[in-house]
Amino acid sequence: MILSVHFDFVAILLNCAYICFGLLIVNHVLGFIQRLNRLPSGPWGLPVVGYLPFTRDDTYVQFGELAVKYGPVFSVKLGSYDVVVLADWKSIREAFSSDHLLSRPRENFFGDELKDVSFTEMSGDPWKEQRRIAMTTLRNVGLGKSKMEDLIREEIDSFLNELKTTDERPFKFIDKVKLSIPNNVSILLFGHKYDYDDPVKVELEKNLDNADSVGHFISSGVFMPWITKFLIFFNYLDMKEMIKIIKRTDCFVQIEIDKHLEKMKTSDTKEIEDYIDGFLHEMDKRADENNSNFNREVLLRNTSAFYSAGSSTIQSTLNWTMAYLAAYPEYQEKIRDEIRETIGFDRLPNNVDRQRMPFTISFIYEVHRMVSLVPINLQRRATADVKIGDKLIPKDTLVLFNFWSVHRDSSLYPEPDKFDPNRFLIDNGTKAVKPQHLIPFSGGKRVCPGESLANLQLFLYVVSILQKFKVLPEPGKQISFESRYNGGRQPKNPIYVIFKQLTIPKTKG
Ligand code: HEM
Repeated sequence: MILSVHFDFVAILLNCAYICFGLLIVNHVLGFIQRLNRLPSGPWGLPVVGYLPFTRDDTYVQFGELAVKYGPVFSVKLGSYDVVVLADWKSIREAFSSDHLLSRPRENFFGDELKDVSFTEMSGDPWKEQRRIAMTTLRNVGLGKSKMEDLIREEIDSFLNELKTTDERPFKFIDKVKLSIPNNVSILLFGHKYDYDDPVKVELEKNLDNADSVGHFISSGVFMPWITKFLIFFNYLDMKEMIKIIKRTDCFVQIEIDKHLEKMKTSDTKEIEDYIDGFLHEMDKRADENNSNFNREVLLRNTSAFYSAGSSTIQSTLNWTMAYLAAYPEYQEKIRDEIRETIGFDRLPNNVDRQRMPFTISFIYEVHRMVSLVPINLQRRATADVKIGDKLIPKDTLVLFNFWSVHRDSSLYPEPDKFDPNRFLIDNGTKAVKPQHLIPFSGGKRVCPGESLANLQLFLYVVSILQKFKVLPEPGKQISFESRYNGGRQPKNPIYVIFKQLTIPKTKG
């Protein structure tokens, strides 16, 4: 009797459990259908991982192909996230002007391992404040000013001497340029640059290189933040090593911060000479604020973020630029003609010269377009339901802008696969015009804050190099434009070039 009551009770419990489980599944399926109904159409994926296993290395090209099938605003489930991809200029332009598409994902890829984030990963008011103060400080300490330009020219002088040591032999351009470019952002952040053989600099470069080699993994892993904990635990893909790399860079940045703190204590002058000074000053001002995110941890993260974003992007773009110069000697000669007619070969270029060198500027624009260094922007998150055209992007969806599709759109750029710097010239080649749809730096309120610094450096380096050297491919070899994608588009194979010292003809031809 007791036994049968016991069995009835167990059976009831089991039935309840089945019903609850069934309800959960129905609820999940209904939620899934509801979500799908709200999102723009797109390809199907697998449970849990979504479409991630089907993404190719050239995700940005694949997104272009999916846009042909599903339309320029389509959705795709990537790992844990509903993602909407915008793959034409009309929708991206609309998205640039939306205040509801300025945020980043809530989760931080490294989870508890790196709790503090830089303003690059922040959202809302903290992002706005950090970015505003960062830009004001950088402008105050030289960004966009002639003093900074002088320092870049000084750096270029050292770089040109370094280039002479290649003795007209083939060399890997990236290995040389990475000695020089980080120095320009070092000046803004730390107030000084490093000698090329300074062990700190050598270590910082090594870290940038290593970070580069794991970039692709981060860019897909970012869609499954829960996986990070497992990866760290099992040391899959050397996650611990990755975190070590980041922390090693942090150590050097920390040393710089400590030196600045020491200077603050010992020096009477309160002059703000670089970004770290400016941030510490702001920290002081806000010392009484509760929960201010102007603290030492964020200073460390911001400075590291500026250092790597301000170095690797320009290095890579210059690397690609050398490939285009070597592959298109006729355009290289046209730039040199412009140099001859404007600056000459004896003095280094300056910012004002850009206005008199439309072909050179068009060449740089065309490199930006063809390379599309960041073909898909850093993830944005919708902070409210947003409409783009007639498509709804529900709150909390991640949004990706596929810049690649815009830069390869034949209605905006005829023969888009052709490298043709003339496409930006008007008025008989006397003026270069940057169209609104040239967007290597993204756009709107979250546009890359380094755009002007990057373009200034690209101009100064290209012109200074071509004043002194002819850039040639290796004998008997063709320059390859094949790429690999690790969040940025990099040459698949290292770019080797020869720098032949120029004997300067005083007249054209
Ligand atoms: C050719 C060079 C560069 C390219 C192509 C480039 C491209 C980009 C792109 C596409 C974004 C994403 C913006 C978005 O969310 O929509 C970005 C963000 C950013 N870039 Fe650049 N960038 C370059 C150089 C630089 C330089 C020189 C610096 C620093 C001095 C820099 C610092 C940053 C920072 C801090 C962010 C995050 C901004 C934020 O979240 O508010 N970049 N960049």
